[in-house]
Amino acid sequence: MAGIYLILLLCLHVQANAHVGRDGMIIEQEGARQDALESDHQHQVTSPSAKPGQCSYTFTVPTSDQPLGQGQLDRVQKEVAALNDWKYQVGSAVSRMEDRIDQVEKWTDGLDNKVEKSNYKGTVADVALLKEQQEELTASLKTLTLHVQSLNNTLGMLVAEKAKTETTLKRGIMNTKDLGEYPKDCSNIYQEGYTQSGVYMIHPDVSSIVPKPTAPPDPFPVYCIMQNNTGWTVIQRREDGFTDFQQNWSQYRNGFGHLNREFWLGNEKIYLLTNQDRYKLRIEMEDWDNEVAYAEYDRFLIEDESQTYRLRVGNYNGTAGDGFVNKIHADLTHHNRVFQSSDTDCGSDKRGGWWYYSYAKGCQRSNLNGQYYSEYGPWDHRFDYGIRWNPWKGNRYSLKSVKMMIAPATQ
Ligand SMILES: *[C@@H]1O[C@H](CO)[C@@H](O)[C@H](O)[C@H]1NC(C)=O
Ligand SMILES: *[C@@H]1O[C@H](CO)[C@@H](O)[C@H](O)[C@H]1NC(C)=O
Ligand SMILES: *[C@@H]1O[C@H](CO)[C@@H](O)[C@H](O)[C@H]1NC(C)=O
Ligand SMILES: *[C@@H]1O[C@H](CO)[C@@H](O)[C@H](O)[C@H]1NC(C)=O
Repeated sequence: MAGIYLILLLCLHVQANAHVGRDGMIIEQEGARQDALESDHQHQVTSPSAKPGQCSYTFTVPTSDQPLGQGQLDRVQKEVAALNDWKYQVGSAVSRMEDRIDQVEKWTDGLDNKVEKSNYKGTVADVALLKEQQEELTASLKTLTLHVQSLNNTLGMLVAEKAKTETTLKRGIMNTKDLGEYPKDCSNIYQEGYTQSGVYMIHPDVSSIVPKPTAPPDPFPVYCIMQNNTGWTVIQRREDGFTDFQQNWSQYRNGFGHLNREFWLGNEKIYLLTNQDRYKLRIEMEDWDNEVAYAEYDRFLIEDESQTYRLRVGNYNGTAGDGFVNKIHADLTHHNRVFQSSDTDCGSDKRGGWWYYSYAKGCQRSNLNGQYYSEYGPWDHRFDYGIRWNPWKGNRYSLKSVKMMIAPATQ
């Protein structure tokens, strides 16, 4: 998971004599501090490069990089609780230490009085040395306190950061109790005034969908691209090979990957989305020379699972060529084909999931869920399995990046 890594380096310059307190009290304080710091191993990693007397801690603050869900909210809430508890422990360690400093000061004053009143036989130099050591001890304790206070401040900052993440997640997930009030797609969200691209919760309106889904779907997160006065709901993205697209039927049905990176939204969700209203599809792609092209279909939907998520596309428009319909050879067309995942002949041969046509005819004219190749070399049979859009780059070229997104059709 990508996240923000906050690295906190805490250097404790504790002088040697601070460790040999008269009654071992400083050593005990050190122990208490360590206990407090080690109370939650999930939040810290001691750096292997940490030298003695120097501690290094790494905190992971979750961001909304992953698909959000109730599970993630629960996890963040637990982390916030743990961090608060830890902060409380550090706070009380610091106040105990402050008490000790007061005690040491009193003890040093008391010593002065004793030296004055007693018939102490030591030399004046001995007394001066002893006092000097006590002063150093006090100074060390004060330095230590400053360091712990700065740790406490950093912790406060981290807790605030986590609380902010939690609030964001909550707003995304539970912005309304009434499911009917969830936006039904990214275009809806854009209309509500949210113009930032990112992950949002939606809930398709299934009331007019035929056949009616057997179980009403829960709200789910999607990635929205807010562009040119509309919100596009992204259903697929490829960009670096991070996610394996050689997946079986249920994986393609439910979706997989990371919304901020590479993913397939899931056939069931795409079915619900594209049947609640009339949708258009826009596919944006990029080659290894950073050239871009797009293909738009003025109508796009997939049928339900009983129809094996069959593809229906309307009229093509764009710069990449039509990779779904072959006007000359109707048998080399993806429109009207059922979806196949890697558990079928074409799916396993082409290492992806798509609306392939017959195995005998070579399966594909396009395959945007094919295998990712991180560089493009000369002609190579490997690219037969690649991310392909033949009308644009031919049948031996695997694309650098692609995304598929939908928005309501203008009729
Ligand atoms: C730790 O920081 C909190 C603010 O986050 C503050 O209220 C508390 O007094 C601090 N504790 C110590 C011991 O400095
Ligand atoms: C948005 O408009 C720009 C400029 O007209 C165009 O290049 C781009 O492809 C458009 N993007 C979408 C998603 O329509
Ligand atoms: C599909 O793949 C997932 C993840 O690899 C696995 O857990 C599941 O059992 C597979 N399902 C079938 C029907 O093979
Ligand atoms: C293709 O899209 C462009 C830009 O949206 C539009 O001007 C043009 O009329 C469209 N062509 C067809 C054939 O739909």
